[in-house]
Amino acid sequence: MKDSEIKKLYKNKLNELNKHNKNYFDKNSPTISDKEYDKIKREVIDLEKKYTFLKSQYSPSSSLGYPPSKNFVKSNHRVKMLSLSNAFNKDDLIIFEKKIFNYLNQKIELEYSVEPKIDGISASLTYKDGILLIGTSRGDGATGEVITENLKTIKDIPHEITDKDFPKDIDIRGEVFIKKSDFESLKSNFANPRNAASGSLRQKNAEQTKKIPLNFVAYTFGFFKNKNIKKQSEFLGALKKWGFKVSDNNKVFKTINDLEIFHKKFEKDRFDLEYDVDGLVYKINSLELQNRLGFTANSPRWAIAHKFSADSAYSQITDINIQVGRTGALTPVARIKPINIGGVVVSNATLHNEDEIIRKDIRVGDTVKIERAGDVIPHVILVDLNKRDKKAKKFVFPKKCPSCGSETIKELNRFTKKHDAVRRCINEGYDCEKIAIEKIKHFISKEAMNIDGLGKKVVENFWDLNLIRFPQDIYNLNYKKILNLEGWGDLSVSNLKYSIEKSKKVSLDRFLYGIGIRHIGLENAKLIAEYAKSIKNFMSYVNKKKFSEFLNIDGIGDTQVKSLNKFFNNKLNYSVFKKLSSLLNISDLKLNKNGKFLNDTFMFTGKLLGISRAEAKSLVEKNSGSVVSSVNKKLKYLIVGEKPTNRKVKQAKELGIKILSQKEWLDLLD
Ligand code: IVH
Repeated sequence: MKDSEIKKLYKNKLNELNKHNKNYFDKNSPTISDKEYDKIKREVIDLEKKYTFLKSQYSPSSSLGYPPSKNFVKSNHRVKMLSLSNAFNKDDLIIFEKKIFNYLNQKIELEYSVEPKIDGISASLTYKDGILLIGTSRGDGATGEVITENLKTIKDIPHEITDKDFPKDIDIRGEVFIKKSDFESLKSNFANPRNAASGSLRQKNAEQTKKIPLNFVAYTFGFFKNKNIKKQSEFLGALKKWGFKVSDNNKVFKTINDLEIFHKKFEKDRFDLEYDVDGLVYKINSLELQNRLGFTANSPRWAIAHKFSADSAYSQITDINIQVGRTGALTPVARIKPINIGGVVVSNATLHNEDEIIRKDIRVGDTVKIERAGDVIPHVILVDLNKRDKKAKKFVFPKKCPSCGSETIKELNRFTKKHDAVRRCINEGYDCEKIAIEKIKHFISKEAMNIDGLGKKVVENFWDLNLIRFPQDIYNLNYKKILNLEGWGDLSVSNLKYSIEKSKKVSLDRFLYGIGIRHIGLENAKLIAEYAKSIKNFMSYVNKKKFSEFLNIDGIGDTQVKSLNKFFNNKLNYSVFKKLSSLLNISDLKLNKNGKFLNDTFMFTGKLLGISRAEAKSLVEKNSGSVVSSVNKKLKYLIVGEKPTNRKVKQAKELGIKILSQKEWLDLLD
């Protein structure tokens, strides 16, 4: 059979399957028996297995029966569900500890709660007066989907807790997963146990979830007004007493050395466990210290995931393509002969940048060792030179952008005085096709506008069909045309409309992050949004090109200001910004307006005792104040530590600004 005929056959089978899915799941009126249904499904999967070029986002092998429902009610987490930063070796752990000591501005003996990192799907369970009221998925970390009924089908999740010590109001968090042995029978339908757990948890019909043997292990809390429990390890003990399952492998250690020894041992033993584990989680055991350390934008400062070393395999490079990223970075990607690495079929591996290709002398046709760890992109570790074809030519990295033909450059790093390893397209954005597409993908992403139903693949598809060129086009889509596209129906189009409409209401920080200014990540976008306060104010900074004012913000430096200037100097960027600003309903940041430092500004000079600048800043912000980094009329208090900068103290005196010692400042706070 010709490829085109196979594709046609596959498409027909898939359409048939989807028709029956709709009948069963949406209309609740199946027209064929389960057995007949399974037969069609089997045929689709067999075709995919035989012909690897076949794959559709609607493939039954990437979902359970039917794609996970998009129709769950959403609910805001009372305490965000964040992720963990990763460590891969001892150095990473040393840096992790060092950052803690820096933040606390002192070196103290630490104690860690050590827990296996189960590779599943996290869930949050809200209990009030001992009754399980709602269960949610993680969602984007801030908002999850309400999947209470599905979670209730899991036998490890108690519906009611009668223990007299169980808190009156608490969110219990943990991991939903599938045992390796149970996965055996589902193998043909899912890439790995994690996908199987995720797919079955997000079914519209809880009866479907029930069919899959899911498990739940509890490991932390969200909302919890804690009075008695002082340590994470005590909390794990309490969870067990209250009737939850916790891991049998939880431990407590004090030093990085002990962590390393346990990690080495556990890495070997993990294959005997009943479930997949992709690392260990280390959490500072003291809950009081956890509270002091707090969070960065994405993860807690008090915990880290120590990953196990990656799985690897050999394969051959068939081609090297250059991808152009959102900020113009050219990333070489090796296309390789598909190979199964630790249960996942890999057909691409990143080559990072031009320097990496030169250093390893990677060529098309080479046999290479590829490593893959968890959710990290697979990469090439070495070239097997014995297997190199004598005729293989050195790879020549393009000097022009493969997308728009512009010049590319390697920037000079201001600090190291060396050229970057990364080559970049000098084009500012929307006039380079690839950059434009990436910018739109960034705009719709979870942490920016969070438009469900408009995934990366859909953006590419809409781009190809000329439906979008700029982010603002999303708000003026031709839905009639979309309805006629393959894979779209009344339901999916109305879901898309709904989530686009919903995204129009956005907070200033998410919007600033979403427009994709280089060096303005989540954290910086938040700092700028807090400083500017409203889109109107931000707009006036833009129009007056007064970005240097942001240097007042503790945390914003020259790099960010230069980048803002460069971004808004580009006419297209500016026009996209203007159009979006008028289309969207951009709200001011929801700041904590109850603190005693409301509208007060602080500046610190000199060394503080027993507390770092970062912690001092976070204390001010928790009390609704803000920290600035230059002395001017807007400053209310200058806090003076050891060896202050005399010039600042003098300036403050001249302007009549209140000068406080560290103790006086802490007294203000009680
Ligand atoms: S603590 C802010 N503990 O790992 C604290 N997470 O990358 C984050 N996970 O989304 C959660 N085992 O799905 C924690 N013992 C454990 C865990 C664990 C697995 C997962 C969880 C989370 C992800 C963080």
